Formats: sequence, structure tokens, C-alpha cells
Amino acid sequence: ESTTEVDVSAIEPGQAIKAVFRKQPVFVRNLTPAEIEAANAVPTGSLRDPQSLAERTKEGYENWLITMGVCTHLGCVPLGAGEGENKGEFGGYFCPCHGSHYDTAARIRKGPAPLNLEVPEYEFTSDTTVQIG
Ligand code: FES
Repeated sequence: ESTTEVDVSAIEPGQAIKAVFRKQPVFVRNLTPAEIEAANAVPTGSLRDPQSLAERTKEGYENWLITMGVCTHLGCVPLGAGEGENKGEFGGYFCPCHGSHYDTAARIRKGPAPLNLEVPEYEFTSDTTVQIG
């Protein structure tokens, strides 16, 4: 079993980077207060795949959103991290293959994808280091 270590110290609020975990893209995003507020303003029960931001982040690190960069429709890599500036209609990620829009908690909000971007197993091993896997 392999793990991936990511140094998050250079990721500014509002930025996301793309790393690699078990040969698949993983997104590490530093949410701004406005992005956190936007995620928390959505009634969880109204979502296709109901999960709160708190359920998708770690206590004390709620600004760090760590998800697989794999669309839950047919597996394309959504835009919105690194080179992809198109964050879609809900400010998170956008999958251009068939038009799935994810919000600032990487939850599916519009388009064909059935599920939120998957949150992998991870833990903070220091305030600036995440171990994924
Ligand atoms: Fe992402 Fe189809 S693979 S919308």
C-alpha cells in the first residue's frame, strides 16, 4: 500500500493543487472563508449526495478540502485545480467531459455525475503536511 505526502504550506487560500495518489489525481484545496460559507449555506438534505463540508474535512482543518480528482461520472479529471481555471457554476470544480459541476465542498450540484468527488483516507501529520492513504 502506498501513501502520498503533500506539503501544503505554499497553497494560498483560494488555490488548489493537483497531486498524485496511487496513480490517480488528487486535489488539495485551501478554501477561503467565503468558499466555506458558501458550502455551509447549502441545506445538506437538498444535495444529490448529501454530505456537509464538516463531514468531508477534518476538525481543525476545515479549510483543507482533499478529494480525488476523478469525476464520479466516467472518470475524467475535472478542472479547477492547478492549470484548470474553470471552477464551474458552483465555484468548485467543473468536469468538461459531460458537464458536471461540483461546489466548493466538491459536491455534485449539476450534470450527470452521481456522487461527490471522493474524499480519500488522509491525515495531517503536521500543520503543513498531509499524508494521503
Ligand atoms: Fe465527468 Fe462525464 S466524466 S461529466
